[in-house]
Amino acid sequence: MTIKKILIMGEPSLWQPSKPITNFTTKDLESLIKDMADTMEHKRGVGIAAPQIGINKRVIRFGCKENPRYPYAKPISMTLLINPEYEPIGNEKVLGWEGCLSIPGLRGVVQRYQKIHYWGYDVAGNKIERKVESFHARVFQHEYDHIDGVLYPLRMPDLHKFGFEEIVMDKVLKCDIS
Ligand code: NI
Repeated sequence: MTIKKILIMGEPSLWQPSKPITNFTTKDLESLIKDMADTMEHKRGVGIAAPQIGINKRVIRFGCKENPRYPYAKPISMTLLINPEYEPIGNEKVLGWEGCLSIPGLRGVVQRYQKIHYWGYDVAGNKIERKVESFHARVFQHEYDHIDGVLYPLRMPDLHKFGFEEIVMDKVLKCDIS
């Protein structure tokens, strides 16, 4: 069990695009995946991306049962994706509250595609491919952004809707984006 330090916003490497995994059978990849799982469970996050623990590689992990940080969210099966990609299905974008382990204590209203088609590879090299919408699509896009060096404030159309949890949590829990 290894719980890694989560890098927080301001750390220059979080703004760097990550490199693809080219060899799926290394010890480094195996331990990266374990560390991401341990750290995400410890922090009770809905998702984590390798750059958040200081490894600029294109690996993301997400999933939730019921999560106290996102009480309104439907469950997402635990998913690890190597070299993920996606494309939007249609042009519809929606606003919703997000948080991030790299931006502790804050929440913001972020614009995302409502429906996407995503794919990537598991550690055995099998392709995983899904068409998803709403919260699941939002979580994927958030984690994907991390491996492109993007944090959610860059996707906020209105910075007035960025605030500390102790103030905005009522709105977050009600999905009130007004
Ligand atoms: Ni994040």
